[in-house]
Amino acid sequence: MEYVKLGTTGLDVSRLCLGCMTYGDPQRGRHEWTLDEASSRPLLRQAVEAGINFFDTANVYSDGSSEEIVGRALKEFTRRDEVVIATKVHGRMRPGPNGAGLSRKAIMQEIDASLTRLGTDYVDLYQIHRFDYDTPIEETLEALHDVVKAGKARYIGASSMYAWQFATMLHIADANGWTRFATMQNYLNLLYREEEREMLPLCEAEGIGVIPWSPLARGRLTRDWDEATERSRTDVFGKTLYQQTAEADRKVVEAVATVAAQRGVPRAQIALAWVLSKDVVSAPIVGASKPGHIEDAVSALAIALSDAEIDQLEAAYVPHAVVGFS
Ligand SMILES: NC(=O)c1ccc[n+]([C@@H]2O[C@H](COP(=O)([O-])OP(=O)(O)OC[C@H]3O[C@@H](n4cnc5c(N)ncnc54)[C@H](OP(=O)(O)O)[C@@H]3O)[C@@H](O)[C@H]2O)c1
Repeated sequence: MEYVKLGTTGLDVSRLCLGCMTYGDPQRGRHEWTLDEASSRPLLRQAVEAGINFFDTANVYSDGSSEEIVGRALKEFTRRDEVVIATKVHGRMRPGPNGAGLSRKAIMQEIDASLTRLGTDYVDLYQIHRFDYDTPIEETLEALHDVVKAGKARYIGASSMYAWQFATMLHIADANGWTRFATMQNYLNLLYREEEREMLPLCEAEGIGVIPWSPLARGRLTRDWDEATERSRTDVFGKTLYQQTAEADRKVVEAVATVAAQRGVPRAQIALAWVLSKDVVSAPIVGASKPGHIEDAVSALAIALSDAEIDQLEAAYVPHAVVGFS
């Protein structure tokens, strides 16, 4: 395993982050396709044994059960001081007032609830899952700063939002001497490159570590365009990401297949190598529902795509409407 500093922090993370949205009770929350605890544990163990020390979950994933499964498994399979646990706040955890969002009240409630579910007294990276249009930015940033000062989070990060919103938040944190975001977790892969316009250059300029989600486009880059899996059939959020520009997207998927065939490696390795080729990316957050998925992700680290291969992979891309912020 390779290790890198997370953005410009001093924190060592594996070059791959394991996405733990895949692990959660399918009866809870909105993801019918998740693996239950018994099926999740071998994959979490395999990731630890492969040297992955960076794990991403969220309070909302499978109604908190992802955090529970990940917390128990990591306690058993690794040492707390070696592992980097990232979770998120913003999504709705219960109906009614104050059940979601980034108010001071919600953040203070949700960090404690996440720590209880994870079975730890701190998380390494506490991320805001989305921008909150209904809470003053100052309120959110001061609450996050207080979470860090209380020792409940080591670093803070943000996730999908407009670049102007992220720039504003960085500026307000600096102006008030509050903890700065260390990371941006955004949607980036060969089928969605809109983040190359504003967000990636902003992160580069500000020393923010980028940790892209769904780097394989939720599996679409790993197989033929018309092929479906259990997950793709029932992935409600995924369906919101891939509705337009279908013809161009199909050609991108075909280009991945061609480059993979030229090299004699699985397509997933090529799609991931493309994300890894961007200097601003610290660690893509990969999803793994089978042992081979982790093996491919690790193998992708050894692939350095040539400029000609990158041109080949990117040639068919057309601009996409912005998605992934809701
Ligand atoms: N911040 C956010 O808003 C946000 C949003 C989404 C995700 N995330 C984070 O990002 C993580 C990863 O998301 P993701 O699961 O969508 O990522 P992904 O890596 O793009 O997709 C993972 C899926 O791709 C397929 N796959 C993976 N490796 C493969 C291989 N070697 N060969 C063939 N198929 C392969 C599998 O699909 P099948 O299971 O269908 O076979 C797997 O479930 C999540 O767990 C979560 O931590 C964050």
